Amino acid sequence: MAVMAQAHRRCVAEDEGLLTRLLKLDDHSLAMAAGLIRAGELVAFPTETVYGLGAAALDSKAVARIFAAKERPADNPLIIHIHSLTQLPMLCEATADAELLMTAFWPGPLTILLKKKAVVPAITTAGLDTVAVRMPGHEGALQFLRACEVPVAAPSANRSGRPSPTSARHVWDDMQGRIPLILDGGHAQVGLESTVLDMSGEVPTILRPGAVTPEQVAMVLGQCALSQSLMRPVGQDEAAPSPGMRHRHYAPAGRLTLVRGQPQAVAHSIRVLQEKQPGARILAMEQHLPLYQGLQVDNLGKDAAEAAHQLFHLLRRYDDEGVRQIYSECLPATGLGLAVMNRLARAAEFDIIDAGV
Ligand code: TXA
Ligand code: MG
Repeated sequence: MAVMAQAHRRCVAEDEGLLTRLLKLDDHSLAMAAGLIRAGELVAFPTETVYGLGAAALDSKAVARIFAAKERPADNPLIIHIHSLTQLPMLCEATADAELLMTAFWPGPLTILLKKKAVVPAITTAGLDTVAVRMPGHEGALQFLRACEVPVAAPSANRSGRPSPTSARHVWDDMQGRIPLILDGGHAQVGLESTVLDMSGEVPTILRPGAVTPEQVAMVLGQCALSQSLMRPVGQDEAAPSPGMRHRHYAPAGRLTLVRGQPQAVAHSIRVLQEKQPGARILAMEQHLPLYQGLQVDNLGKDAAEAAHQLFHLLRRYDDEGVRQIYSECLPATGLGLAVMNRLARAAEFDIIDAGV
């Protein structure tokens, strides 16, 4: 946190040429942020899921800056953030079912894909005829979006290939010198990116699991399908429903291996593996910690919500410490556990072994 205090005091970084200000989110910084967005510049802001890197969504030049700052492949589309339903008709064609979801889950961690309107530039949707929209459930994010007035395109505010940032410190680490302003709104409450739900086809389909679960969507719409690609890699010749699924996702600098099975058997397997690699780190659920006595274990928390909140923070810390090997328990892939397992499986590049085998 010393770096953070220093950053707040100096408020600027000049590593890569651009002055980066890191300011607590308040009336003064919000006014500055809105001015920058309307001038076509980038601002990182907090949401309830992860921090976003915002630009005016309908301004192609501003959106191009996002891709440059993140080093993001041009074929990976962005989510447009709104603060009011009055902003929706200009962006997309909402269906009756989509409106039911908005009533149930907005503001909140649900991104909805709908047919786009012509005003949305091709760069924002990477040339697709659908657009992703979301109203974040975070008071600071809504204040920021209200101040901007215009819809704001925002991916997660990490450099491509790094875990999504769940604190202003993470954004600072990735974006200092690349963007003019980071708004600090504390730690992201959810800690994993929003649920991405495709409502442009016949059946509502989850392309990325998040804090709004398939079970919750099915409660509202009576059905909810899961994309085939959630827990396995997209093949070379296969069409990816969402371009983000094809791209190499965050993978730790070291290797991450997931071990599945009964808790006792998993702990035993990890103990045996760890003996061969003494520097290896372990991620385990709180109730299983006694099974790892004598080993250095990091606590994922007592449930999926705590694991979601902690995961990216822990993975970033391992990268900072130069950890070479990480072993993790698996969580039941239901509810929010599905989202945690999806991120863990991708970070492990689908390296999942059975305990005792
Ligand atoms: O929680 C979140 O969603 C955060 C905060 C900042 O709102 N944003 C975020 O954005 O995670 P990003 O760009 O990191 O992830 C957006 C995902 C990508 O996997 C992208 O491929 C997918 O949504 N996506 C966006 N527009 C799409 C579209 N039109 N069709 C299919 N997938 C789309
Ligand atoms: Mg991202």
